[in-house]
Amino acid sequence: MFSAVQGKNIILGISGGIAAYKTPQLVRLLKKAGANVRVALTASGSRFVSELSLATVSGEAVCRETFPPADVPGTDFTRHISLGEWADALVIAPATANTLARLAVGLCDDMLSACFITLRPGKPVLIFPAMDGQMYRSASVRRNVATLVAGGCTVIEPESGDLASGQCGTGRMPDPEVIADRIRSSLQEIRRDSPLSGRQVVITAGPTREKIDDVRFVSNYSSGKMGFALACAARERGAEVRLITGPVHLATPEGVERFDVESACEMHDAAKPFFATCAVFIAAAAVADYRPEMPASGKLKKTEPEMRLLLVRNPDIVAEFGAQKQPGQLAVGFALETSEGLASAHGKLDEKHLDLVAFNTYDRKTSGFDVDTNTMTLIDRNHRETLLPTMLKTEAARLLIGHIEQLMDPDR
Ligand code: CTP
Repeated sequence: MFSAVQGKNIILGISGGIAAYKTPQLVRLLKKAGANVRVALTASGSRFVSELSLATVSGEAVCRETFPPADVPGTDFTRHISLGEWADALVIAPATANTLARLAVGLCDDMLSACFITLRPGKPVLIFPAMDGQMYRSASVRRNVATLVAGGCTVIEPESGDLASGQCGTGRMPDPEVIADRIRSSLQEIRRDSPLSGRQVVITAGPTREKIDDVRFVSNYSSGKMGFALACAARERGAEVRLITGPVHLATPEGVERFDVESACEMHDAAKPFFATCAVFIAAAAVADYRPEMPASGKLKKTEPEMRLLLVRNPDIVAEFGAQKQPGQLAVGFALETSEGLASAHGKLDEKHLDLVAFNTYDRKTSGFDVDTNTMTLIDRNHRETLLPTMLKTEAARLLIGHIEQLMDPDR
């Protein structure tokens, strides 16, 4: 799975945020996948994670000072240049507001910033900012992120959740498994020999929001992670990917065209123009089946002791595509059940004219909406079942895309 990382030289730059405590685990994952890892640790980074731990897991001395000790035999006095030239990728995790600023203006006063400047052109730079949510939203951080992106770096939006400040917001560094996977996909060459190569794939993702009034809505807990992982996996296989997503806190995968929508009707309207031309339609969104019939304008007042909401059916997007698809087009849907629902997933395959259904149960810990893993059973159009054990959604997405490739007609 991690063959893209095998034998690659990766510099991991670590700056001074609490998320640095996760980095030895990241180094372990990369080493296990066959990468050569050198760590460039800033002075503040060393306050949060020990040099000894990082040297032990990477099997290499940690680089900190640009001026190495002159009295140690074999010292490479120009390693601030040679390290940048050695690397196939530079990963900065966590990247603090200070490090972002220093990189954006081109300061070069420690090994991390020196490696950033001496990295060979075209080599990927992945930056994982992590800080307090308010700091991340500040004008100066936004400006520095924009400068780095304009300079060709990939800046991965931090995740939302509990922060060290005790507040809840956007600023968390993703888990080491997610970072390792992101590194893998940026080092992976896009496959041109896949039947998906050059074909259009449309993916719906995330929840929808159905307005009750101008300030309230009906929605669900979908995080969009599975749909976004599928977009990455399809892109890796050379597909032209269009991702139509409800409101989520996820960064757009590289090379993917993204359409942001709110309601099921908007999702339907955004998807419909692509029905005729796409090779594969993957419905990973948790689309609300119903919407309030008449959303109120303004804010509803609580004048009555009780309130009744009349809900009406939303268009079923994947069923509509399934009903009108032409030979050679594939429709893929998801079925999420809280308990035994395999039979109903088989039923969905026929009712919605699908070619593949991914059935997953909902237990909130290893499978379901806002978790990084999934346990799925794939059911193909001949009702053959394949069980995918609990694994990262990114891995499950690659296997699912592999299944789709097998169902495709290679001559079209
Ligand atoms: N779907 C869709 N448009 C809708 C509703 C669902 O495209 N308006 C797609 C989903 O993206 C998913 C599949 O259909 O791929 C889920 O089907 P659905 O009938 O909503 O199943 P569940 O909610 O899992 O089950 P049910 O409503 O039958 O309880």
